[in-house]
Amino acid sequence: MTAPRKLFIKTYGCQMNVYDSERMGEALGASGYVPTDRADDADMILLNTCHIREKAAEKVYSELGRLKPLKQLNPDLKIGIAGCVAQAEGAEIMRRAPVVDLVVGPQTYHRLPEMERAMRDGARPVDTEFPTEDKFEHLPPARSVGPRASRGVSAFLTVQEGCDKFCAFCVVPYTRGAEVSRPAERILGEARDLVSRGVREITLLGQNVNGYHGVGLDGSDWSLARLVLALAEIEDLWRIRYTTSHPNDMTDDLIAAHGETEKLMPYLHLPVQSGSDKILKAMNRKHTAAQYLRLLERLRTVRPDLAVSGDFIVGFPGEDEADFEATMELVRKVGYHSAFSFKYSARPGTPAAERPVLPDSILDERLYRLQALITEQQRAAQEAMVGREVNVLFEKAGRLPGQMVGKSEYLHAVHASVEGVCAGEMRRVRITGSETNSLSGILV
Ligand code: 5AD
Ligand code: SF4
Repeated sequence: MTAPRKLFIKTYGCQMNVYDSERMGEALGASGYVPTDRADDADMILLNTCHIREKAAEKVYSELGRLKPLKQLNPDLKIGIAGCVAQAEGAEIMRRAPVVDLVVGPQTYHRLPEMERAMRDGARPVDTEFPTEDKFEHLPPARSVGPRASRGVSAFLTVQEGCDKFCAFCVVPYTRGAEVSRPAERILGEARDLVSRGVREITLLGQNVNGYHGVGLDGSDWSLARLVLALAEIEDLWRIRYTTSHPNDMTDDLIAAHGETEKLMPYLHLPVQSGSDKILKAMNRKHTAAQYLRLLERLRTVRPDLAVSGDFIVGFPGEDEADFEATMELVRKVGYHSAFSFKYSARPGTPAAERPVLPDSILDERLYRLQALITEQQRAAQEAMVGREVNVLFEKAGRLPGQMVGKSEYLHAVHASVEGVCAGEMRRVRITGSETNSLSGILV
């Protein structure tokens, strides 16, 4: 018997890519590949790429430059490009980089086994279609792949993909396509399978996850709230999260769900991008800063301890000092637990890419000011946890002997000395200290 071929996947970008990489690994598992975490040990390398911000393609080319010598060491080695750069620029990459053997977009990776066969026969397959069939229906169910591998304590589960919002700066509607929601039955089945393999926390993923409207168990259209409540009935599933959401899809039932089930964690990633109504309009966000603040007020009425995180873009075309100050003011009002902020980057093919850009020095300066404010809020939010008790779902061994690391309800990483506690156990912890990116505590 020949040894199985080894597959190395390098993942860039968002959590959906993390999930996709797992599923691609499973799809190729059915073709006899086993995972490896070393590129120099692999017979196939897949780069699962991200196109959201600048220099996406450049990063791919430089990674290809690093990987190229490995082909001399292993003439059998094949290299594939997957993900959103593949979708947007795959054909071009194939032309420019002879080292690439395969290009697969995010909507067609269920076809990887056939593509892999074609590639081994000497072809250089490219598939960046938006097929009519649902890739999830065509992927092997996770459990058919080898032994029932443990999936850790916390897992991602894609429930929705694509986006119809067309924010003026964003490539997602072009790279991931139109919004599609998976049927509830499939999602519940996958969730039960994950739970049977030890998963206790599931993060539901979608580019616009709260826009979920899939076929429900009763055949009717289910919202994300209905789906969350159905998932909450799985006994050994303790925690449910979802990301990423658009403010305009925070429906009444979803807001209410935050007060209805304890399993829905009090943490919400709700990007607003800017605090200026003029810029929000130019971004095609279709909401105002006041509407966003009102929404958070309503959420905090049902869940007063809700931790909020967000995304911001500084230096969007047309943003003047007053617009930027409005963003700073909104951040001050919200009090973020954490937030991501980015310099605006013109993405080819998006409406905003046609507009005049601001000087980079302004972008740098605004990013610096915004990040300083966010870091300060993050530190304050963490320090406010000291002395409080949280539930920690322990995930793995910590740095020090006898220590474990897990997550609080609010998604803080928490270190604690825990004699005899295993990964997958949830314990009450009193927070005793706050470090840069984590908390420490002791078992109660
Ligand atoms: N420039 C800068 N940031 C962007 N994002 C999306 N597109 C761009 C862009 N063109 C940011 C947004 C989004 C996050 C995932 O990435 O803040 O919420
Ligand atoms: Fe992009 Fe999110 Fe806007 Fe959709 S809602 S276009 S994914 S930023």
